[in-house]
Amino acid sequence: MATELPPTCPFAPSERVDLSNENIPRDLAISQSYGGYLELARLLDAQHPNSREHDEMLFIIVHQVSELWIRLMLHELAGVLACVKKDDLDTSFRMFGRIARIQVQLLAVWDVVATMTPADYSAFRNSLGRASGFQSIQYRLLEFRLGNRNADYLAVHQRDPAALKTLQRALAVPSLYDEALRLLSRRGYGIPEEYLVRDFSQPYRANKQVAGAWLGVYHNAGKDRDLYELAECLIDVDHKFQSWRFQHMKTVERIIGHKPGTGGTGGVSYLAKALELRFFPELWQIRTSM
Ligand code: HEM
Repeated sequence: MATELPPTCPFAPSERVDLSNENIPRDLAISQSYGGYLELARLLDAQHPNSREHDEMLFIIVHQVSELWIRLMLHELAGVLACVKKDDLDTSFRMFGRIARIQVQLLAVWDVVATMTPADYSAFRNSLGRASGFQSIQYRLLEFRLGNRNADYLAVHQRDPAALKTLQRALAVPSLYDEALRLLSRRGYGIPEEYLVRDFSQPYRANKQVAGAWLGVYHNAGKDRDLYELAECLIDVDHKFQSWRFQHMKTVERIIGHKPGTGGTGGVSYLAKALELRFFPELWQIRTSM
């Protein structure tokens, strides 16, 4: 038997939200509005498909959403780097926590992309020209900041001096991993001198003594709790990054098979090579001897 709720009950079913008792400003001329603050007019006018194919809108938006998350990730990473430089790991852990959640959002995108069939994508693929995520400045910046230094990627930006400058600057300064090793050294762990001061634009090479230092951190987890937490945060970033690369590769394989990419690489064969990348190699190596 259905129970009648009194008409004044706040949980009574209703067909519309009653706004009459809310103190809502109606004239926003003198204040900032939601859309104005977020520049929604610009943001929502930045989707211009090249074709009339239905799925191109999805393709544009998943890329834009990913770029926005990467933007926030870069912002958090800048905060983390500043903390590591000044030995303030406790503050960095909140940012690391946020980075992990952003990475989950980046991973969630593949679920949406995978709703597109090969035919759906082929219908507008030719209208993309040479455009490819391969040219994403922010993605490359993220890789450089974390520790994957590879100057060969600069070549595709030669016609964009501003992008080139940003990426060259990021290549020249220590990465998050370089800063973590410097911190370990300050805390008394043996890091070879040539790893503390080096040409940071060159790729990082894994080193036995560095592996030994991280192993020491894991053994001293009780005393150096914050360094131990740092090691686990770094592994988490790397792990989730690898999951992103894997999901990207598999989703691409599902949609274009082994066709070449619009950016000029072999496609899946190129993406598979990147699966071997490790930002923090010794942290992976030492797990075998733990
Ligand atoms: C239908 C969906 C997609 C297809 C078919 C696709 C395909 C590809 C291919 C084949 C490459 C290799 C480079 C090339 O030759 O183009 C690539 C690279 C890349 N894509 Fe995608 N992609 C898709 C969606 C996305 C999305 C949603 C993002 C999010 C930002 C993204 C970001 C990237 C990045 C950053 C690279 C460079 C990876 C690296 O150099 O390691 N892609 N993509």
